Amino acid sequence: MTTEIIEKYNIPVPRYTSYPPANFFTESFNQADYIQAVDDSNTNQPQHISIYIHIPFCKHLCHYCGCNSYPMMKQEVVDNYLLALKQELKFILNRLHKSRKVSQIHYGGGSPSALPAARLKELNDFILARFNTIENPEIAIECHPGYITREQWIEIAEAGFNRISIGIQDLHQDVLDAVHRKSSIVPLTEIFTILRERNIAINLDFIYGLPLQTPERFEENMKQVLALQPDRVVTFSYAHVPWVNPNMKKLEEIGLPEQETKKTIFETISNILTQGGYEPIGIDHFVKADDELYLAYKDKKLHRNFQGYCTKRTTGQVYAFGVSAISQLADAYAQNTKSIEEYIEHMQSDFDIVRKGYKLSIDQQIVRDAIMMLMCNECLIWSDLAQTFNLSIDDIRCKLFYAEAILNEMAADGLITLTDEGIHATEEGRIFTRNIAAAFDPLWKDNGEQRYSKPI
Ligand SMILES: C[S@@+](CC[C@H](N)C(=O)[O-])C[C@H]1O[C@@H](n2cnc3c(N)ncnc32)[C@H](O)[C@@H]1O
Ligand code: SF4
Repeated sequence: MTTEIIEKYNIPVPRYTSYPPANFFTESFNQADYIQAVDDSNTNQPQHISIYIHIPFCKHLCHYCGCNSYPMMKQEVVDNYLLALKQELKFILNRLHKSRKVSQIHYGGGSPSALPAARLKELNDFILARFNTIENPEIAIECHPGYITREQWIEIAEAGFNRISIGIQDLHQDVLDAVHRKSSIVPLTEIFTILRERNIAINLDFIYGLPLQTPERFEENMKQVLALQPDRVVTFSYAHVPWVNPNMKKLEEIGLPEQETKKTIFETISNILTQGGYEPIGIDHFVKADDELYLAYKDKKLHRNFQGYCTKRTTGQVYAFGVSAISQLADAYAQNTKSIEEYIEHMQSDFDIVRKGYKLSIDQQIVRDAIMMLMCNECLIWSDLAQTFNLSIDDIRCKLFYAEAILNEMAADGLITLTDEGIHATEEGRIFTRNIAAAFDPLWKDNGEQRYSKPI
């Protein structure tokens, strides 16, 4: 791919972790709308219940962080937060039909591992006492290894989780120093032994595009990954959005890698991991060939929610709990307040915690499914969409914002192939899947001034 083509497409574009992206959520969507959507969700598809719990606290804040994270607070606030979480769980779960099954529980943050494992186990038990689960549901947690001792790893491993994501970001001390982050206290080989002995699947999270990273140094990272053999490797492209987190400006001062370098880092990651037996899925995941995510991807049936990729088996409507948490129901999104104080206060009184959301029309649900299909499977198959919405292929194309001229240009630039079956991203075009998805997004066309990160 030529530098001109890279520059042409490396423009700010939504990451499409949801459609519409969260910056389109409106304040006119309130608590009452959410409750109505929760009640309606009982008869909507997908049937399964996916639970997201947001733990916002971190021992230290990393300069690159784009998550809703807050410095650790006094014990009293943390205790009240956990109480409020239980109240919210009770309030919402009581509205869900008992016949529905839990397919996923995911703890994100912030750093859920900043809390004692016993408190997390209480929350797991609280949920699992109320609902049956599918066979082998995914119960996952994101952990920052910089603050977890050997004993604490054992406690976390025995708190009911079957997948643990370890936030590595980079294995070089100077890179971590530059971004204000601690490296793992316990050697990774030891952590792997503790988790493997308990049959816990392991994800390792990296970020590329941070200061002091080069293709050669990322090659060193990936060689260590191959020696460890995690189940999944997630390599996030650093999203530089200093207007969201002003601390990111500190990274500009040290110097961020050029887009060409960043692209070469990604190619290095991809080459080493694929040669080492991992299969790439989506724009940032590498998994083993027998992983259910890869099997779903091969079948063009991979899904995604804010927590990451999932399969038909684990996909559910997402009920999210805690500050800033976003629920993803069949036809609505709802986001809780981002203020910890406000969240606790309202959960002690009127439960009025939803601050933003979005109700999707049927046409928007079609656009959402088209964009998600592209983001997850790097293709859009007309007949699949037609089947989901019980419409003809012509109707689907008509309802989608089908920007033929843009798509023809992308085909000429080598990003996609267009066939009667649908649209497929090429190997080279995969890194620009976001741009391909944007061709179907009427909101993106109308609101070009919104601020987003770049694909590379
Ligand atoms: C909530 S954190 C994971 C748990 C824990 N707090 C930690 O840092 O290890 C989720 C992940 O988001 C990724 N992340 C955070 N900020 C990012 C950014 N600006 N761009 C890309 N990825 C980012 C990091 O890889 C991080 O591990
Ligand atoms: S990357 Fe993790 S530990 Fe660092 S600030 Fe963000 S949420 Fe906290």
